[in-house]
Amino acid sequence: MNTPYKILGTGSYLPPLTVDNEMYAKIIDTSDEWITSRTGISRRHLCDGETTWEMAVKASFVALKDAGVSPESIDIIIASTLTNDYTTPNLSTIIQDETKAVNAFCFDVNAACTGFIQAFDIAMRYLMSPEPVTALVVASESLSKIVDFSDRRTCVLFGDGAGAVVLSNREADGKTVAPTEVYDAFFGAQGDGGGYMTGKAFEVATHPFSDPDKAVPEDRFGHETGIFLSMKGPEVYRFATTAMPHAIEEVLSRTGIRLDEIDYVVPHQANDRILQASAKRLGLDFEKMLSTIAETGNTSSASVPICLDQYVRSGQIRRGQTLILTGFGGGLTYGACACIF
Ligand code: UT7
Repeated sequence: MNTPYKILGTGSYLPPLTVDNEMYAKIIDTSDEWITSRTGISRRHLCDGETTWEMAVKASFVALKDAGVSPESIDIIIASTLTNDYTTPNLSTIIQDETKAVNAFCFDVNAACTGFIQAFDIAMRYLMSPEPVTALVVASESLSKIVDFSDRRTCVLFGDGAGAVVLSNREADGKTVAPTEVYDAFFGAQGDGGGYMTGKAFEVATHPFSDPDKAVPEDRFGHETGIFLSMKGPEVYRFATTAMPHAIEEVLSRTGIRLDEIDYVVPHQANDRILQASAKRLGLDFEKMLSTIAETGNTSSASVPICLDQYVRSGQIRRGQTLILTGFGGGLTYGACACIF
């Protein structure tokens, strides 16, 4: 695709409370050895009184500052979350109000862990307009709200945090950005795997007009743990290690970029073994598969922008490099975007 775009800035935020594996071993039957060897996770950040929207706003301010643009210059805010604080208003409108990005229209995306890259791709499509367009794309997740801390199969995996990027078809000073051939995306879904990862939002309605004798319908997924996440880990693992490499291969074929021309893959951070298996399947040098999992755990859709921001700030990701952002998650959903940083 011949698209004028630039990632003007990135930002992220992690709550200050850090919980290491030994702390979990004190509350459930687990060990640092099991968690590190099976997942690569050593610690994760958890909210302690902080909300999903507060983290989103903090990451947004960092990205706006990094981009060198004012909140008023943002035309679109797209937020990704599966852990929003409200059913309405959505997360993006709260970010708009808190940042005073008063000219932006706003909507949210929920594709579980794939949500940020879907939001990123939607923003890219708006940037193809001949008009100046600047977008703030944010993902914020408080998995600690929906994790059952007595379930060792899930609770050790997840963390909280937020990440954001500012994308534009104009430089921060208003000059038009030169188009680049390097942008494309590929997304897929497998709704028949929806039951591999579930968390319930609401029970079936009972109201003054309900028939009290009517049996409560069975849950579509046999989900039994209310709002808490329930996951069939090995099934998701198998899906992830085929879906993510497939999405990367698709996006390479669409852009005509060779694997050896990719500087870095910025993947969803779910499990270090998933990253290793995916790199092996692709024939990708594992050094190019970026990981923050040891320090963040799985922050669902926030994990890609957090990883991106951390490697930009460390200086490892530099201007002009070719990146693939990729993810998979509940739904099941998956996808990848190839872009220039
Ligand atoms: O963002 C996307 C979301 N999810 C994922 O990407 C998850 C993908 N799946 C995975 O990463 C892995 O499947 C897990 C890390 C979740 C689990 O690893 P596994 O090697 O697939 O383990 P398992 O589920 O097959 O469980 C093996 C054993 C079981 O014990 P038994 O039944 O064999 O006696 C589990 O009960 O490990 C046990 N186990 C634990 N032991 C200690 C499960 N969780 C723990 C734990 N500590 N935290």
